[in-house]
Amino acid sequence: MKVVTTIAELNTFRATLPNPVGLVPTMGYLHEGHLSLVRRARTDCASVVVTIFVNPTQFGENEDLDAYPRDLDRDFDLLSAEGVDLVWTPMDEEIYPVGYQTWVTVEELSQILEGHHRPGHFRGVTTVVAKLFNATQSDKAYFGQKDAQQAVVIQRMAHDLNFPLEVIVCPTLREPDGLAMSSRNTYLDPKQREAATVLYRSLTAAVQAFEVGERDAEVLRNRMSEVLSTEPLAQPQYVSVADPDTLEELNGPVERALFSMAVYVGKTRLIDNMIVGD
Ligand code: PAJ
Repeated sequence: MKVVTTIAELNTFRATLPNPVGLVPTMGYLHEGHLSLVRRARTDCASVVVTIFVNPTQFGENEDLDAYPRDLDRDFDLLSAEGVDLVWTPMDEEIYPVGYQTWVTVEELSQILEGHHRPGHFRGVTTVVAKLFNATQSDKAYFGQKDAQQAVVIQRMAHDLNFPLEVIVCPTLREPDGLAMSSRNTYLDPKQREAATVLYRSLTAAVQAFEVGERDAEVLRNRMSEVLSTEPLAQPQYVSVADPDTLEELNGPVERALFSMAVYVGKTRLIDNMIVGD
């Protein structure tokens, strides 16, 4: 496994990799969720490239950029064990050189849900991901359903800008008690960690209601909120029943829906989602 930092080194080594190349963009502090994307890429592609970059432009002013967990040596060991060919850990100065002023924005899809509560977040995500797509010249790129809106926004960007690349969305990996795996789970103390399972319980309650025939979007949203309200350590920021493609909030009867939520547990902001009717 080769580890590179500069774009010059990346270009040199990329030229030696057999196609198709599969890309897994990450911010590091890897867990099984990330590794599931790597494994899928390893199965599908002749070469696997993983990027590790804590992208400053997708963090808001009051967010956790400085506190974001990092452990590159551990990440390299995990990736090496998965048979990754190339890891790129770009430097801030090469991704955003002095005088940088070019941004990729997916307009409407970036304004709602997560985008509404994290202004500028998706502008940072789409800009860096476009740069990672360009720099690595990948054929396929792998993203997690855990960040459902991110996956929709990136698919839209890849299509709109004619990236010659396929975006593949992989299932959310969970802890045995249902909590979606996330690098941010490390912020939780033991009591909060226990409380954090309420996201999974809330989503599951809505899925079960849907499965036994409940179709009213408002009733399904209320079902999620009801379960969240049983957990005193959880402060919901939003609870949504939306169209899985357009991400527009739904009212009345639904046939397919993305159930999603952002919930504070202490200072930690957790997101999770499930899709029904697909
Ligand atoms: P990061 O949070 O490190 O996640 C990297 C990838 O892993 C994303 O596609 C994310 O959806 C996926 N992932 C995270 N938790 C997962 C889980 N429990 N199961 C399955 N997949 C999971 O998302 C980002 O980084 C950044 O925004 C990035 C795309 C790298 C751009 O900076």
